[in-house]
Amino acid sequence: MLLLQILALCHISLGQQLNLYWIHKIGVLAALITTVSGVVSISDVWGDEWDIILISLQSTGPFLHIGALAAVTALGWLVAGHVIRAGRTKFHMIVLLVYLSVLLVLYMVPLAITSPCIMDRNSLKPRPDVIGRRGAPMLAPENTLMSFNKALQQGVSSLEADVSVSLDGVPFLMRDRTLRRTTNIAKVFPDKQHEDASLFNWTEIRSLNAGQWFLESDPYWTVGSLTGRERNRMGNLTVCSLVEMLRLTARANRSALLNLHRPPPEHPHYKTWIMDTLWAVQRSGISQKRVTWTPDTDRGRVRGLQQTSLEKLSVEEFRHRGISSLTLRYSQASNKDIQDFLVNNMSVMVYPVNEPWLYSVLWCSGVPSVSSDAPQVLRKVPYPIWLMSPYEYCLVWITSDLVSIAIVTGIFIFQKWRMSGMQNYNPEQIMLSAVTRRPSRDVNIMKEKLIFSEVSNGVTNTDEHLYPENGYDIGQYK
Ligand SMILES: *[C@@H]1O[C@H](CO)[C@@H](O)[C@H](O)[C@H]1NC(C)=O
Ligand SMILES: *[C@@H]1O[C@H](CO)[C@@H](O)[C@H](O)[C@H]1NC(C)=O
Ligand SMILES: *[C@@H]1O[C@H](CO)[C@@H](O)[C@H](O)[C@H]1NC(C)=O
Ligand SMILES: *[C@@H]1O[C@H](CO)[C@@H](O)[C@H](O)[C@H]1NC(C)=O
Repeated sequence: MLLLQILALCHISLGQQLNLYWIHKIGVLAALITTVSGVVSISDVWGDEWDIILISLQSTGPFLHIGALAAVTALGWLVAGHVIRAGRTKFHMIVLLVYLSVLLVLYMVPLAITSPCIMDRNSLKPRPDVIGRRGAPMLAPENTLMSFNKALQQGVSSLEADVSVSLDGVPFLMRDRTLRRTTNIAKVFPDKQHEDASLFNWTEIRSLNAGQWFLESDPYWTVGSLTGRERNRMGNLTVCSLVEMLRLTARANRSALLNLHRPPPEHPHYKTWIMDTLWAVQRSGISQKRVTWTPDTDRGRVRGLQQTSLEKLSVEEFRHRGISSLTLRYSQASNKDIQDFLVNNMSVMVYPVNEPWLYSVLWCSGVPSVSSDAPQVLRKVPYPIWLMSPYEYCLVWITSDLVSIAIVTGIFIFQKWRMSGMQNYNPEQIMLSAVTRRPSRDVNIMKEKLIFSEVSNGVTNTDEHLYPENGYDIGQYK
């Protein structure tokens, strides 16, 4: 965008003069500008959130720096050639100045790069536990028994589920407000499909199919890898109740993390939803210590369960409320915050973590657990993707700076030598480039003069007219 504006401005101000010579100049400038802006804002590859860019810089910063350094060092070839050939014009001095400033900034950038993964290997904490968010929702329909089973196969330490309460008080697992996305309600109860999920009774909810949508839409391109038996099972899945999910969790000796949706005020269980949920926990036979409670309401009534907060409060406030665990969205989880909470013996869980690089950064930060939609991906990360001691990082940084300085100096010396070689031994080339570099408007004027003189004088002495003020006299080389 910026580039287009600059080009447009140049076009307007230059008008007819915008010829090859200028395009070349602008090209050099544009290359410089893109490099600078590329370093400053590494596009939106990682999504449109600024936070995620900052976090991804923690993971990619050192490598982007080396990449940018290599690119700008290579650009030295163009800049050196241009500046040395053109001599000391104002424009070329500015280009040279901009280039050298960019280079200097790049040499210093590592001072500003911080990453949790620049650390001593010995202080690396154990691998963060992975919590299956709604099971393994990329491998099987979210919040179903099949999804939880798949997550357990991927070695998760806990299962996370979204709990709603049905019209007759049965806690069941549903993420959305309505049943439309993850069941076939549009076919079974077309008139009521836009209603809140908690306004159906358990008999009705149980009659819905909760797996067919996954087979049909194949949202993560994973259906192809299912066996025939798995497809059959998936095609017959029902909505899962909280008791079923907790029984599975208890059998597997794992923990459960519950996100609760309060039913709407007109719901008959609007007042008793917490008791209904606790009753289900008791009935499932799971140890209360293995269930983590997230809502901030009624914590006093659920003292036996583990408590985690979704809200980032001060450490004192957490102590006061008796909460020892915090659940943070990755975009809120700055390394500094994480360190502050960990030092104060607060446990930190970060969600959603689906990419190995993010998992690596959080691992280096010492986060004890992450919630993931992709436990099958995180399972294959045996160690942080990269980890450097501060000493190694300094070594890499200083070496790359020195190599770049040597290369840029070499390039300038070589270009200078090449140019002087041209002046000494290759006059035709110099002359040619002198002609092509002359703005074409001048050449056009010359041509007009030439035509004019041809008309008035006949075709004589054309060379003189073509290069009236040229330092190189053609006649000299004939
Ligand atoms: C559930 O609702 C249906 C009507 O939609 C009704 O026929 C059925 O008896 C209800 N079941 C229970 C257990 O309340
Ligand atoms: C449901 O299971 C039965 C056998 O148990 C199978 O024949 C049928 O195809 C399954 N339904 C779907 C939609 O896959
Ligand atoms: C369940 O897990 C705990 C640790 O989380 C372990 O100490 C215990 O032995 C396990 N029990 C069984 C039956 O595997
Ligand atoms: C955190 O726990 C450790 C041991 O459990 C204890 O020594 C330390 O004082 C605690 N730190 C704070 C800030 O409570």
